[in-house]
Amino acid sequence: MFKDERGLELTAASEAAVTHFDATINAYLGLRLDTGDHLKALFAADSSMPMAHVVNGYFFKLFCTPVLEAKALDRLASARALGGDITDREALHVEALDAWCRNDLVAATGRWEEILLDYPRDVLALRLAHFTHFYLGAADQMRDSIARVLPHWDEATPGYWYVQGFHAFGLEEAGDYAAAETIGREAVGKNPEDIWTTHAVAHVYEMQGRHREGVKWLTDLSANWGECNNFAYHTWWHLALYHLELEQFDAVLDLYDTRFRNVESDDYLDISNAVAMLWRLGEQGVNVENRWRELADKSETRINDHILVFADAHYVMALAADNRFDVAERLVGSMPDRISAQTTEAPIFEDIGRPLCESVIAYENGDFLKVMGLLAPLRYEIRRIGGSNAQRDLFQRLLISSAMKAGEFRYARALLSERTTLNPNGVWGWNRTAESLDGLGEREEAARARQAAKQLLAN
Ligand SMILES: [Fe+2]
Repeated sequence: MFKDERGLELTAASEAAVTHFDATINAYLGLRLDTGDHLKALFAADSSMPMAHVVNGYFFKLFCTPVLEAKALDRLASARALGGDITDREALHVEALDAWCRNDLVAATGRWEEILLDYPRDVLALRLAHFTHFYLGAADQMRDSIARVLPHWDEATPGYWYVQGFHAFGLEEAGDYAAAETIGREAVGKNPEDIWTTHAVAHVYEMQGRHREGVKWLTDLSANWGECNNFAYHTWWHLALYHLELEQFDAVLDLYDTRFRNVESDDYLDISNAVAMLWRLGEQGVNVENRWRELADKSETRINDHILVFADAHYVMALAADNRFDVAERLVGSMPDRISAQTTEAPIFEDIGRPLCESVIAYENGDFLKVMGLLAPLRYEIRRIGGSNAQRDLFQRLLISSAMKAGEFRYARALLSERTTLNPNGVWGWNRTAESLDGLGEREEAARARQAAKQLLAN
């Protein structure tokens, strides 16, 4: 029996195969472009390794795209066929892939967490649970999942700083910004090419409105992302978010065109980044010219995907922004319901996906009261679609903007008070507060809010 570099038993044909397995996992942890190359080398060394087939299946599932579902199922079948004499841990991985192929994210996550009780150094299980907790909107679990295994890791364990980075992101999403920043910065200091942890710290700056520090953080580290996969686009998107908040719209559009919108890509995250930025720009009165068109074209090819509500909501936004309302409605109409589909996402499509997507369409139709009617009751539930707090802020802005446009200034002001209390460093929040106070006839208060925004821009 061979062992991987963290000492876990691995069913393999040779030491060389184990070396390629370790390299594949390390490349995945670093979100590196050469992950697939390492996987190919692994298959060349040992095409019968059950975990190679499981990992390949996992990688197909990570794309969240229906055309790869059959390939993931194929890998699952191979893993089962090869898995006559495998370890309990490997058998649990096969079960996790099986659950994921059924799009039962809760069951898949349960298998990985079960593995981690006995094998807390199974970094693959840890990383995948981190991913699914994220898309289940379970910030506390993202944090705790890592905390549970940390006593079994130390600096000498390969991958230790990546794990610290997962912890930093879990802490950040759970709202512990100070701990997230301390741990994240230390981890990036030790491993500057770790884009995931760099991104975790970027979230801290975003949530605390420390936009200029964020610009410096990401700009200084960006030279390390040349070998990273498309997650680099998302990280560039965060840089653009800071510039957006600083009302540096030319910089945002430049980053859009040169750094984070690859018009060749139909990846769900790449599209979501672009959609979320164009919508924010448009809401702030910036002319985005014809950029919606290619996003709507890509989204139109994905209207029957229904893998993540998070992605569907962004596709609908592109379609509605490009006036393809009938296509957007078709996407909503074809969402699975909880009775017809036994997947984790089915009740989320029904409870949140439909009203959320209808609210996006209503906004583009100018029916702002309808947006409020649909979205206001969902405010504290939207986290169930997954994604980060910074990403889901799009829908909070949608609601505030709708309340303003509907003339519902009391409600807008209340939402904005929540916002400026949590993060007094947001220019957008203070400007919208001023407008809502103008609407209520409270001129002096409005002037004070406007001054707060001006001060933040001048600092
Ligand atoms: Fe992010």
